[in-house]
Amino acid sequence: MSLIKSAADIASLRKGGSLLASVLEGAAQQVRPGLVLRDLNAWIEQAVRDGGGQPSFLGYQGYPAASCLSLNAEVVHGIPDGRVLKSGDILGIDVGIALDGRFTDAAVTVPVGEVVPEVEALLRATYEALHAAIAQIRPGRRVGSIGATVLACAELAGLGVVRALTGHGVGHAVHEPPEVPNAAKATDGMLLQPGMVLAVEPMLTTGSGAVYTDADGWTIVAADAPWAAQYERTIVVTKQGCEVLTPWSLERLHPTG
Ligand code: MF3
Ligand code: CO
Repeated sequence: MSLIKSAADIASLRKGGSLLASVLEGAAQQVRPGLVLRDLNAWIEQAVRDGGGQPSFLGYQGYPAASCLSLNAEVVHGIPDGRVLKSGDILGIDVGIALDGRFTDAAVTVPVGEVVPEVEALLRATYEALHAAIAQIRPGRRVGSIGATVLACAELAGLGVVRALTGHGVGHAVHEPPEVPNAAKATDGMLLQPGMVLAVEPMLTTGSGAVYTDADGWTIVAADAPWAAQYERTIVVTKQGCEVLTPWSLERLHPTG
């Protein structure tokens, strides 16, 4: 496990990341009232395997599924079960895959049918925080520039940052150093260098950002709010800026000069 990934690592991560992005996109397209969480998880696991990947969350520290599906106030690590989606819900879909032994991690939060304006604003702000943070990434900046940007976006939107959980290094394992906090000072943390691979994953709530762990031992839930959102991408720091390894259409390159 090394902080700086090789060109061969990055080529594999790009392949795995494309598969992961297409699985997430396919999963997001199925989200509608009536969908059963366990069925969505089964579709995700099959799509990962059909693409030649392995679901990296399955069995990780005993986690029982290929995806984390987190509903409404649940922030992350929700376990897929028999619950049925209804209009007005939001669903976080978080998937990790290993392809050729290289690990990528990405997540999206999807509205189910019609959501209230407060929820739409939460989704938009969390997505914008992710992309504003990604736009900061370049050699010479510090890891803290990510958290400083997420925090500023959240404060502007009147939303709370979940501080109990962080993004992380990724590439050779599900989780690697360094931690990537979502609330930090730009002068905090290690210097970003070309070849570092990071999972950037802002988590915001309509409350303070405080969370607790559910009795199932996994699900992280907002402690003082009905709504939480998370978006996540795996990126590699380049000479110029960074490249999103798990891109939706049109979001791969973020050269920052
Ligand atoms: N994407 C999750 C994270 O970075 C990984 C979940 S591991 C699991 O925290 F075991 F909870 F699935
Ligand atoms: Co992650």
